[in-house]
Amino acid sequence: MQMCFKNNNPLRHCVLKKIITFTKIKYYHKMEQSIINDIITWDVVNWSKSFSFWEKNIDIKNKNYNCLEIGARQGGLSLWLALNGNQVVCSDIGYDKKPQELVKAKQLHEKYNCQDKITYQCINALDIPYENEFDIVIMKSTLGGVRQFFMGEPNIESRAVEQIYKCLKPDGKILFIENCSATFVHNFARRVKYKFDNDWNYFKLKEIKPLFSDFKRIETKSVGFLGTFGRSERQRHFLGKIDNVLENVIPKKNRYIVIGYVEK
Ligand SMILES: C[S@@+](CC[C@H](N)C(=O)[O-])C[C@H]1O[C@@H](n2cnc3c(N)ncnc32)[C@H](O)[C@@H]1O
Repeated sequence: MQMCFKNNNPLRHCVLKKIITFTKIKYYHKMEQSIINDIITWDVVNWSKSFSFWEKNIDIKNKNYNCLEIGARQGGLSLWLALNGNQVVCSDIGYDKKPQELVKAKQLHEKYNCQDKITYQCINALDIPYENEFDIVIMKSTLGGVRQFFMGEPNIESRAVEQIYKCLKPDGKILFIENCSATFVHNFARRVKYKFDNDWNYFKLKEIKPLFSDFKRIETKSVGFLGTFGRSERQRHFLGKIDNVLENVIPKKNRYIVIGYVEK
């Protein structure tokens, strides 16, 4: 029957092949999206714009780079680097006090069979125990939070950046993505959300480049506007799609995410 179909009806065969290919492509994209969801987890549409920005600046595929993720919590970006064939130290200051986060990171990496490429360490961004060690330091929503553990200490983010400089090899790179202050409305919404008790540093876009002034090159891109207001990931997804259009008219300084690529 199958032979008959193959030999006698090439048009049907061709159509069937196309359907199978289309289904495979759809499955592939679905799988890809589920990985992206696992890596980014929150306002995925906007925060995942980091990948294309970073990949425009650096080819990370199968380079066996030695990488450090800082403030990794559940280690999404460590997964991304490992899936691309690099070695990663997945670190967070909280791994000793909140071992459940470390367990979740390990589970995520095991889900994608990446455990051989990743080691784990409790590291404070203000005291990184490495020198000239890493090709890449990566962090997501971390720099703005370092002051939470060290309230009242001056220039805390600059100190973290100095430590990152120290731990990078010559020509090493930083890939980062952080929250920005954006607009009055964004700041008011955050105050309400955190009941006026939020010590996170939401950077102004103009503060970012001076922070990395010791480095030889910095590229930034700001994205996202409405996505952060969604109360569920479904809502954030919808608002993120609107952001894709709005971004053409919203001034850069009013967007709520900054993506960065920095070279030592
Ligand atoms: C908002 S969470 C982001 C976690 C993760 N990067 C993500 O995007 O899902 C900020 C993380 O930074 C970590 N962190 C805060 N201060 C730190 C420091 N001084 N050194 C290292 N990690 C720090 C916290 O423990 C927390 O896991």
